[in-house]
Amino acid sequence: MTPLVEGRRRAARRGFDQDRGTSFGAPAIVVHPLVPARARHALRSVGARLEEIVGLAAAIRLDVRDARVLTVRKPSPGLLLGKGQVAELAGLVRAHGAEVVVVDGSVSPIQQKNLETALGAKLIDRTHLILEIFGERAATAEGRLQVELAHLEYQAGRLVRSWTHLERQRGGFGFLGGPGETQLETDRRLLADRIARIRRSLEDVRRTRGLHRHRRQKATVPVVALVGYTNAGKSTLFNRLTGAGVLTADLLFATLDPTMRRIELPGVGRAILSDTVGFVSDLPTELIAAFRATLEEVTEADVILHVRDAAHPDSAAQAADVRAILASLGVLHSERPILEVLNKIDLLEPEVAAEMARRPGTVAVSAREGQGIDRLLSAIAAALGDGAVETIRLHPSDARRRAWLHAHSSVLGEREEDGLLHMRVRLTPSARARYAAL
Ligand code: GTP
Repeated sequence: MTPLVEGRRRAARRGFDQDRGTSFGAPAIVVHPLVPARARHALRSVGARLEEIVGLAAAIRLDVRDARVLTVRKPSPGLLLGKGQVAELAGLVRAHGAEVVVVDGSVSPIQQKNLETALGAKLIDRTHLILEIFGERAATAEGRLQVELAHLEYQAGRLVRSWTHLERQRGGFGFLGGPGETQLETDRRLLADRIARIRRSLEDVRRTRGLHRHRRQKATVPVVALVGYTNAGKSTLFNRLTGAGVLTADLLFATLDPTMRRIELPGVGRAILSDTVGFVSDLPTELIAAFRATLEEVTEADVILHVRDAAHPDSAAQAADVRAILASLGVLHSERPILEVLNKIDLLEPEVAAEMARRPGTVAVSAREGQGIDRLLSAIAAALGDGAVETIRLHPSDARRRAWLHAHSSVLGEREEDGLLHMRVRLTPSARARYAAL
């Protein structure tokens, strides 16, 4: 095993243990570098962006002592920020005894090294921060593998760029703890081997999950998937709907791996509810690929619930981000019903909430207080049942299709007429598609 991977593993173990290690509660300064040329078209307010990155830093329990926006007219290749700004930051680091500076953007290896020297603190950029969060929250074997893969790929990218400089390289996870740095003499081939091995393990895990899914489909239990921007309230809604004890916390990214639970729906019966990882804007590209598989359940769901924080000032921009990801998964313009769940209406004026509840295709709820949950359950049932009852005519000798329908739909009635078998069935949208493909 390479020192790089060894270091990362040790650190990951430390990271998962909240009671040990120095990572948790480390004093930190958060900076959002605002590049005016790029910011002009941004949908979000700078204040909201700053708030989000502070939330992300808090999600790995950094103790954020100061957060500020620094306007960077022309990012410098060596330092990113201006000399005066670096001096200002160094002063803040000293004043607060900060051990970490979080930069809401991407920082090159050279900039990182120079800034760390100038500031006397460890520096992490947005990609690294999100990787740390994912690393800490990954609960299943697949989640852990995906995070490790993403992290190794992130490091491999930096390895290539800084290879010729023979500079010291960070050891991945555990950027906050002890001497986590390892020499760059790390063998690239070993890193590539490790990446290849993880990819193979991932394939195995995915195949197993595919089998489970297949088994579920055979049992024709409809699947309802929750998606939404981070902190929208998916886990809270999931718990409200299932009574299951899934982790909820006032932390971003409390959910990483899809979690499945059974629920009872009025008029439909048993269904499976699937929670997914929260989305963020500017998700690092390394992560989009690595986390796609956690969204596989979404692409196979019968109904998608898009949970939105209706009380958030950037609610519309967040929804646009989520829709863009759904579109890239190919589910946005499919037959699949998507219900918009406007959550946290308890935080809104009653008239505003009432107005929202009237919009077609949406249901206004408070996952925390319970308002609107009955309406949501009926809406899910309606979406699952939409156009689902139909009469299928079969030749009486077509035992295969008849058996398939008995196994995969609820058969409401059967009669023979004009030499044909008329079957009245209720099919979920995905079962309908599979029947058509028979
Ligand atoms: P990620 O795991 O980051 O994707 O978050 P999530 O979408 O699963 O959000 P979660 O359920 O963890 O909720 C985030 C925060 O919003 C928590 O502090 C919740 O208590 C709060 N919250 C969730 N639903 C409601 C609601 O209906 N009203 C209010 N006021 N707060 C809510």
